[in-house]
Parts: sequence; structure tokens; C-alpha cells
Amino acid sequence: MTVHGRRAFIIGGTGQIGRATAARLLSAGYAVTLGHRRPRPDAAVPDGAASVRVDRADTGALLKALDGHDVVVDTVAFSPYHGAQLSRLAGRVGSLVVISTGAVYRAPGLPVPIPETWPTVERDAHDYPAGKAALERGLLATPGLPVSILRTGVLHGPHGRSLDHWTFIKRALDKRPHVVLAQDGRSRFPTSAVANVAELIALCARHPAARVLNIADDPLTVAEIGARIFAVMGHEAEIVTFAGPSHPDGLGFHPWNVPEPIVFSMDRARAELGYSPAVSYDDALRQDIGWAAAAVSEAESAGGGWQDVFPDLVARHGTEVWFPYAAEDAYVAGATR
Ligand SMILES: NC(=O)c1ccc[n+]([C@@H]2O[C@H](COP(=O)([O-])OP(=O)(O)OC[C@H]3O[C@@H](n4cnc5c(N)ncnc54)[C@H](OP(=O)(O)O)[C@@H]3O)[C@@H](O)[C@H]2O)c1
Repeated sequence: MTVHGRRAFIIGGTGQIGRATAARLLSAGYAVTLGHRRPRPDAAVPDGAASVRVDRADTGALLKALDGHDVVVDTVAFSPYHGAQLSRLAGRVGSLVVISTGAVYRAPGLPVPIPETWPTVERDAHDYPAGKAALERGLLATPGLPVSILRTGVLHGPHGRSLDHWTFIKRALDKRPHVVLAQDGRSRFPTSAVANVAELIALCARHPAARVLNIADDPLTVAEIGARIFAVMGHEAEIVTFAGPSHPDGLGFHPWNVPEPIVFSMDRARAELGYSPAVSYDDALRQDIGWAAAAVSEAESAGGGWQDVFPDLVARHGTEVWFPYAAEDAYVAGATR
């Protein structure tokens, strides 16, 4: 698919989704502009893309920057207020693609897999899922607004501040002989490679409509994810599991630690847009691993560590539970005695 003379604007264009989407849209022939607040090194802007500093808190400046574009991609909309900003673009831009989250689905009792028709949370709260769900409703209720809303799983890709796959990547780099996983290693939680989020964004840009789509990888168990990462890295390690939740010292901890499977249906994206992953799971892992290993090595050379590269992993779970190697060694020694 190649288009010429079409212009795309990405709000949050220097983030992980933004960079992957810029590369994808540039390759499809769009002229691409990235919007962000802070000054950035040149490396954050792919060759061929333009970049402007704009804070979405300044609605006037934001709308001025967006006016007249064929497609606007918004990676940092979280609230009904942000939805109201975007609603003002009806008739002023060709179409929109807005990043939401699978956290909007109303739980418990989620079906496997979850279709986009499953109800979303409707509570009067200011938390993340409620904000995203209200944002979605406001956008879909706006007349004349072709807006594709993409519900993603946990993102993984280069430049992410929260790469969950690091839990296995670091173990392979550390040449660990084993990893211990809670919940029998069977937890399934949706993950989304940013390269494939970018692929679906490009399809939506090409075929504007008001719609909601899930976007997630094939639903692997956590043990399968670990095995795939170790295989891609050429690392041999035993995956040891136990029933029930992780222990307070971190034994068994992994970031997809849910007792019931959470799986997104990808049927609608396939049926409506002919979506298929642009990047295989293993190739997406290679991108994650290559970037993460280099970024952490650079941080370590500067006297820091992985916690500086992935501050959101620390914010969500602290630093202690991620790599309890002594507890793992003791558990495996006890299990095999
Ligand atoms: N991480 C996950 O696992 C996950 C899971 C589900 C859904 N999501 C969704 O994914 C989206 C985040 O995408 P991402 O991970 O690509 O983001 P990211 O890597 O954190 O990048 C955020 C981008 O937005 C820019 N930005 C932040 N605030 C801004 C503002 N007020 N005005 C203009 N630009 C602003 C940042 O640059 P500056 O800082 O320079 O402004 C940067 O370019 C969110 O909508 C989130 O809900 C994430």
C-alpha cells in the first residue's frame, strides 16, 4: 500500500508507538509530522519525518497543528477532556486513530477471547480504565468523526519505558539456568508488539471509519513467552512452575500474573481490514531484545541500570520482585533434592 500527497500527524510521535507508526506511515508514502513537548535528540525522529513541539494541554496550539491533516494519530489521549479536544476536529481532518487499552473491558467474567462488543467500564471514577472508556464513548458519539479506536494489550517494542519481556531477557543475559513462574506458568495476558500496532494504525488510516478494534499478539502463556525469548537468544534454561500466586519475596513473580486468562479476539481486525501481523512474534522479540540490551548496557556504562531504562516497571511493581535469583536457586535445589 503506497499513498502520495497525504499528510499524517502523530500526537506523542516520539514515543514507542509514535516512532513505529512514523516509520510505517513514511514507508506507505505519507508525509509525517510528530508532535511532542520536550526537545529530543535527532535519533527520536525517523529520517524523513518532521517534528513540532506542542503540548496537548494547549488546545488552541494543538488544533492549529492538526488542522488539515489526512490522518491524526493520538497516542496520549486518556480522558473525556482529550476526547472533546479531538471531537473538534470533525470536518477539519480526514480521520483519526486513537490509542486506547484493553483495560476498558468490564471484569470479572471476561470471555475468552474478548470481542470488541464486550461492555466497557462505566463508573464515575478518574482512574485509567474509566478515563479511557469515557474517552472512547465521547469520540464514538461525535457525529461526522471517522475515528478508529485501538484497544492494545501490554506494549512491547523499542523505546518502551515498561518492557515486561525484560523479566526473561535479563535472565538470559545473566545466563540463569532456570526461572520459576507462579500460576503454573499458564497465565495469559494480552501483549502487543508496537510494530503490529503501527501496522493496524496504517490500515485504519487507509480505510477511515468510526470503529473499535483490539490489537494483540497471539495469546501465548507466560511459560511460552519465556521459552520463545530464551530460544531467540540461544539460551537454554529450565522453566519451573508452581500453582498459585507468587511469593512475597518475588519467587514466581512475572508481570502477567493473572489467575484467569485474558485474551483479545483479533477476528474483527482481520475481517474488516485484512489485518495480519507485519512482524512475527519472534522478530518482534528480536527488536525488543536488541534495543533493551543496548539501552541497559548504555545505562550501566553511565553508572545506572535497567531501572533507569524501564522506570515504569519499577513504578508498577517496585525493584525487589523482578529477579529473586537466590530464592529461585533455593526453590529449584529443594524441588530436585
Ligand atoms: N504501555 C503499555 O503497556 C500500554 C498498554 C495499553 C495501552 N497503552 C496506551 O499507549 C499509549 C502510550 O503510548 P506509548 O507507550 O507509545 O507512549 P510513550 O512511549 O510513553 O510516549 C509518549 C509520547 O507522548 C508525548 N507526550 C506526552 N505527553 C504529551 C502532551 N501533553 N502533549 C504532547 N505530547 C505528549 C511524549 O513526548 P514528550 O514527553 O516529549 O511530550 C512521547 O512522544 C497510551 O495511550 C496508553 O494508554 C499502553
